Amino acid sequence: MAGAAAAGGQGWSSRTAFILAAVGAAVGLGNIWRFPTLAGENGGGAFVLVYIAFVVLLGLPLVLSEILLGRAGGEDAIGSVENVAVKSNRSRNWRGLGALQITSGFLILSFYSVVAGWVINYVFISGGDFFGSLFAGDPFSVAFSGESQDAITGRMGELFADPGRLILLHALFMAATIGIVASGVHDGIEKAATWLMPAFFVLLVIVTIYGAFKGNFEDALAFLFTPDFSKLTPTVLNEALGQALFSLSLAAGGLLTYGAYVGKDVNLAPTAGMIALADTTVAILAGLMIFPIVFAVGLDPAGGPALIFQTLPVAFNAMPGGALVGFVFFILIFFAALTSSISLLEGPTAWVIDRFGWTRKKSAFIVGLVAFLIGVACALGYNVWSDIRPLGFWGIFAEADILDTLDGFTGKIMLPLGALLVAVFVGWKADRRLVESESGLSGGMFAFWRFLVAWAAPVAVSLVLLFGLIPGLLGD
Ligand code: PFF
Repeated sequence: MAGAAAAGGQGWSSRTAFILAAVGAAVGLGNIWRFPTLAGENGGGAFVLVYIAFVVLLGLPLVLSEILLGRAGGEDAIGSVENVAVKSNRSRNWRGLGALQITSGFLILSFYSVVAGWVINYVFISGGDFFGSLFAGDPFSVAFSGESQDAITGRMGELFADPGRLILLHALFMAATIGIVASGVHDGIEKAATWLMPAFFVLLVIVTIYGAFKGNFEDALAFLFTPDFSKLTPTVLNEALGQALFSLSLAAGGLLTYGAYVGKDVNLAPTAGMIALADTTVAILAGLMIFPIVFAVGLDPAGGPALIFQTLPVAFNAMPGGALVGFVFFILIFFAALTSSISLLEGPTAWVIDRFGWTRKKSAFIVGLVAFLIGVACALGYNVWSDIRPLGFWGIFAEADILDTLDGFTGKIMLPLGALLVAVFVGWKADRRLVESESGLSGGMFAFWRFLVAWAAPVAVSLVLLFGLIPGLLGD
């Protein structure tokens, strides 16, 4: 496949490489940390159902929209949208859509890397535990052996209280991300995805099978698939939409940018379908991996963000082979997070390369460094700056510390807005023939897809934005 010539003349070496990179971007902390957490907090089945509906009706059509915009434009996210606008005789100002997306991706990267740092912390802890038990001649012991439940959950608090450690781990993760992006689309991003994603899937299946046999699979199934519709408030809808966008890597510049590296011979519609399907399957598998383990030891599924860092380690402590499985579990999350963060960094990096003509190495380093510094503020928000509520005046963000504010503001406002603009641009403004030929769809399928993009997505996203935010504005 002839790669496109965007951002330094680079392109994917095959369709498979693109799919792996895009699935790698989609599958991340969002699937394993955020999805089960949100499902746990919002009543399980009802949330899962709404989430799937959003993915199929809005997410998938938008994934295709973004990739085709990127390929049709052939540059970084801002340049691509501008090119398509010009080809369609529309205002160049549509490039603002690309700018919004790149900003969202950049902000997400800054806090994403901090959370990924927590994952590294647990890779170290659980790895130490596993190797400790291995050398003691008992490789199948429980994790965190000999520790009380309080001591295990307390590890999270210890980490949060230690700014130096939080920042160091965040720096490690950001350095790895920068290193991969700096190595290029082909030698960095693609290579990382082709190694890490298959490894990730194997590990995911292993831990899920472990949970199915050793955990309480029945309760987990009931929890994830029995809908309690009384739980569906506008805030939950807002949450589910934000999560669908976040999880599919929509509206954050990543897909637009990756789309520019796709060769013209790739049929985009089925490719977009595979990305959405893989992402959703992993989110549900993550639920099926985590909840049987949580229920097996009678813990609370609504553990919030602590679910995987406190609840699960307690569960691993109570289960045979927990030391090994815990270690494997945190490694798999680390792989998933890394392939996502590289797509977050690639968006703004590609723009800097195109805009300032800097080398890829310099661009990746500088963008990553600035994102790192914002992340440092997030890390300090857990200790020295724990009193700071950046948007404290605003109902829905009143309680949010620095990291939660960035997470909430990007997820609830910037991503929906970015998605809305993509829907309006591709559905109404971009040249219809250009869009049709890029999409790989024709006839009734094209008409249906275009209806979803032009009508369903803007209406649903606007409603959810409005209803999610208004009660928030009133203090909800
Ligand atoms: N989709 C990633 C996840 O679920 O963790 C997060 C993400 C990556 C969002 C890349 C946006 C993006 F451009």
